[in-house]
Parts: sequence; C-alpha cells; structure tokens
Amino acid sequence: MSAPKLRAAVIGCGFFAQNHLHAWSMIPEVEIVAVCDRDTEKAEAAKAQFGVARAYTDAAAMFAAEQLDFVDIATTMQTHRDLVGQAAAKGVHVIVQKPLAPNWAECIAIVETCKAAGVRLMVHENFRFQTPVMAARKLVADGRIGTPHFAHVSFRSGYDVFSGQPYLATEKRFILIDLGIHILDICRTIMGEAETLYCTTQSVNPAIVGEDVASMIIRHEDGATSIVDCSYASRRLPDPFPQTLLRIEGDLGTVELMEGYCMRVTAQGKVDVYSVEPETPPWTTKPWHVLQESVLNLQRHWIDAWARDMPPETSGADNLRTYGLVMAAYESAERGAVVAPATLYPPG
Ligand SMILES: NC(=O)c1ccc[n+]([C@@H]2O[C@H](COP(=O)([O-])OP(=O)(O)OC[C@H]3O[C@@H](n4cnc5c(N)ncnc54)[C@H](O)[C@@H]3O)[C@@H](O)[C@H]2O)c1
Repeated sequence: MSAPKLRAAVIGCGFFAQNHLHAWSMIPEVEIVAVCDRDTEKAEAAKAQFGVARAYTDAAAMFAAEQLDFVDIATTMQTHRDLVGQAAAKGVHVIVQKPLAPNWAECIAIVETCKAAGVRLMVHENFRFQTPVMAARKLVADGRIGTPHFAHVSFRSGYDVFSGQPYLATEKRFILIDLGIHILDICRTIMGEAETLYCTTQSVNPAIVGEDVASMIIRHEDGATSIVDCSYASRRLPDPFPQTLLRIEGDLGTVELMEGYCMRVTAQGKVDVYSVEPETPPWTTKPWHVLQESVLNLQRHWIDAWARDMPPETSGADNLRTYGLVMAAYESAERGAVVAPATLYPPG
C-alpha cells in the first residue's frame, strides 16, 4: 500500500503562486487540500483551477479548520512572520517564499520560532534548483575544474518585471533584496561563504523607487574571488531574461554557462559544449520555463528531504546566510566600504 499523501495548503494565490500550484499538481506525494488568499477572487480561482477542496480568505480560519502536514506560503515578505508563526503554533511545517522577511530581526524571529516549535522550515530559494545552475554546481563539486578560485555570477536584463509584480516599483529597496538575493545564493552555493563584500548600487529607471543595478565583489573564506552583478536596466536584444550566467575558473579548467543555456566546459585541454536547457513541463511558457521548472525541482527536494528526515538545502538557517549577504551589500553600498557579512549579520 502506498503512503498517504501529505496534506498541504498554499497561502497567497497571486502572481508567482500559480507556479507553486501547477508544480504541486505534478507531485504525487502531496495533496493541496486548501488554498488561502485574502482576495476572495484569487482564492476561489485557484480552488476552481486546481480542483482544491476548500478556499479561505483568512489564514487563521484555515489553520483552525484544516489538518495540515505543511503549508506553502507564497505571499509577499511583510506577511511571512505572522503566517509562519500561525503555522508553527499548530505544528504545521513550512515552506515560505523569499525574501524571508523585510529585515534581519524578523528573519531571525522566523527561524527561531520554527526551531522552538520543532517544525521544518524551507525558504523557497529556487534559483539554485534551476537545471542549468544544478549542472554547473555538479561540475564544480565533481572536481572537473579543480579548485575554483574565481566566479562571475551575472543576471542582466531589461525585462519589465513591474508589469507582473507592480509592488516592486514602489519598494525603497528593490534589486538586491528581490533578485540579488537569488544571485548571491547561487554564488555562495558554488563558491562558499563570503569573508568580505563590496557593493555599489545604481538607480537607472526613474519610474521606480529603488535601485535597479547592483555590482559586488566578494572575497571568500578560502581566498577565492567572485564578481556578482544584477541589473534590470540593461537594454540588449535578445534579452536573456531570466537566465543567470556563470563563469567559474578553477586550477584545472573553466565552467561557463552562457546565453541560450549553452554550457562550455574546458578541462584537461579539452572543450565540451552542450545544451543544459531545462525541460518545459506542460504549464510552463518560455522564457519563464527555467524559473517554473525550478519550482518543481525545489518542491521535489522538499519531499525528498522530508522522506529522508533531512533538513532541506535551503533551510531557514541556510537562508540566513544568503539574506545576510543582501543586508551586508546594502550596508556596503550606503557606506561606500568593504564589509564583513558574517560579522554584521551573524547567522548563529
Ligand atoms: N522565487 C521566485 O522566483 C519568485 C518569483 C516571483 C515572486 N517571488 C516571491 O513570491 C512572493 C509573492 O510574490 P507575487 O509576485 O506572487 O505577489 P502577489 O502580490 O502577486 O501575490 C501575493 C498574494 O498573497 C495574498 N496575500 C497577502 N497577504 C496575505 C495573507 N495574510 N493571507 C492570505 N493571502 C495573502 C495577496 O492577496 C496576493 O494575492 C514574494 O515574496 C516574491 O518575492 C518569488
């Protein structure tokens, strides 16, 4: 007899949650038994489209009525602390979208609340689960290029993200906390933790409040160097959105993830070039497919870690280190100084 399905709910049925809902429908171990959005229309639309039994507009009412194994929170960061707290109080395990919270103190509070309640906490940090990024990580981890000493991790686009996510245009802090958080996460996943970081930010688009370009240089604990840059003010056709490009140099070779999902590996005097373009599950649309597929990869990881009783890779504790880099980058840019992220934001 197969194991009973895990009973889960999705809170927040907005723009990005559609990917969560589609991806859950492809995971046989999980049944989404409830959806919740304070906007009735969105909750009801998700219920109808995904054949979910019940829709709620109030998370407290949902937690009171439902027996849940875990909840998947896809609301914006201002609501995360309250919603995670409600789940933890009921002993319900949690996946929560990035950014974990609007500030460091709330991030710490979320992680400690889940720890005290003994519930699993995974941050929906999906970029490291993109198929091309996983391929590059594996090449480096397998030693194909020896010991890495330099990385360039880059995301530069002119894509109008504000059409799908209008709230991003009015945030005082924009690109580092919304997108840079992913790019920095990829960097530390491949290159290890940062010892020092220097960042500059620019505001190019006058129609938005926050910064839309950030450039960073990182010295890692083992002496390696990374350059990490992100931009939503880059005018170039074709626009590579939403691809993250990588160049990682080691003492034995180089891994390059180039535009068009082209992987070039130089090692032992030979060059291999091949495609690492992700599959396109039925609901996905190009150019979004690399992000959409990573949601499915992340959810599969959650189920796999659950089955093995292991912490997920992007646990709350892990994500504090990435979030700390973002906060340190803002501080560096404001002070015009090199900073030590782990000293400013000790992850505990
Ligand atoms: N990982 C990624 O690749 C990725 C991509 C896009 C967005 N995101 C993240 O996803 C989150 C959501 O972003 P979005 O663009 O989908 O936002 P959105 O505004 O489109 O959707 C959020 C939804 O949550 C609902 N909501 C807010 N507070 C609620 C509450 N207390 N109870 C119930 N429902 C509530 C809103 O009504 C809205 O429908 C953000 O944190 C964003 O950073 C991640």
